[in-house]
Parts: sequence; structure tokens; C-alpha cells
Amino acid sequence: MFIKRLPLCLLVAASLISVSPVLAQDNDEYVESVISILRTHTQLMESMAQGPRFRYSDNLVRHAQQIRETFGLVGPMEWHAAQAAELLSGEGDAALNEEMFESLALTSQRSLSNLVRAAHDSMERYDREGLLEAITAMKQSCMNCHDLLPESIAPRIWEIPQGE
Ligand code: HEC
Repeated sequence: MFIKRLPLCLLVAASLISVSPVLAQDNDEYVESVISILRTHTQLMESMAQGPRFRYSDNLVRHAQQIRETFGLVGPMEWHAAQAAELLSGEGDAALNEEMFESLALTSQRSLSNLVRAAHDSMERYDREGLLEAITAMKQSCMNCHDLLPESIAPRIWEIPQGE
């Protein structure tokens, strides 16, 4: 009897472990969770854009909107700009001056809007190429700035950390 029940107990225990929510009780955990949400939406868009149409294919537009909204949780561009100006003023980092920063921030903001537009287009005109390009451009726009900053300040959003 005990032996018969054992696998069920293990199953229940395993399911409890796997459904436990991601904890975000400090800043680092919260930011990590937000990054993971950004990645999931982006990866879903990439795979949906490359596969056949299915019942939820129309959600491409919603995923694009969610990427924009989720980014808004941690860093709208105005916020990014303000923080970076502060960060850079003290250190005099020649690699990234304020003018460059503003321009990279604007490009990134446009790439987020463009992603939503490209998702609409992909629905109406079945333009998958355009959508994949818009996803790549959006990711690249983040990296163009983050790569110039220390990883401890600007996380490598699209790189999956080792061991995940
Ligand atoms: C023009 C430069 C620039 C661009 C473009 C940029 N970022 Fe950032 N990002 C920063 C800086 C600077 C920080 C660190 C701010 C701080 O913590 O003071 C940062 C931090 C972050 C963080 C961590 C926030 C925190 O509280 O630790 C996330 C998440 C993030 N960026 C996401 C993105 C995403 C997604 C994109 C592209 C859609 C993007 N960033 C584009 C400059 C940029």
C-alpha cells in the first residue's frame, strides 16, 4: 500500500515545487523576474513568427504590446535617461556621452512601437520577415546601449544566464 502511494506523494511534491511562484522580495529578484517575462514574450513571438498559424496566432500583437508594457515596469526611456545621466556624470565615461545616450534611447523607444506595428502587419499581410526583423531590431536597440555599460548596471537582457 505504502509503495503504491509513494509515487503519488512524489508527484504531488514535485507539482508543489514546480508551481511555487517566483519570489520577488527584493530589487534584484524583481528585476530578474521582469527580464524573464520580457524574454518569454519575445521568444514566444520569435517562435510564433516562424511556425504555422494556430488558434492563438492573433496574440502576436498582444505579446508585442506586453513587451512594451513590461519594459515600462522597470525603465521607461525618460527614467533610463535620467538614471544614466546621473551615472555617467560622475565617471566621465567617454564611451557613452549624453547625446549618444539620448539617441540610443530614442531608437529603442521607436523599435518598441515598431514592434507593435510589425505584429499588426504580420497579421494583416502575413509579413513574417518584417516581424522577425522588428524583433531583432528591438533586441539590438537594448544591447546597443547596455553593452556600453557595466553588466552590473545594465543587465544583458537577451542573454540567458548559464545554468538556466
Ligand atoms: C540608451 C541606453 C539604454 C537603452 C537603449 C536601454 N537601456 Fe536598459 N538600462 C540602461 C541603464 C543606464 C540602466 C541602469 C539604470 C540604473 O539602474 O540606474 C538600464 C537598466 C535596465 C534594466 C534593469 C533595471 C533595474 O532596475 O535594475 C532593464 C530590465 C532594462 N534596462 C531593460 C531594457 C530593455 C528591455 C531595453 C530595450 C527595449 C533597454 N533596457 C534599453 C540604459 C539603456
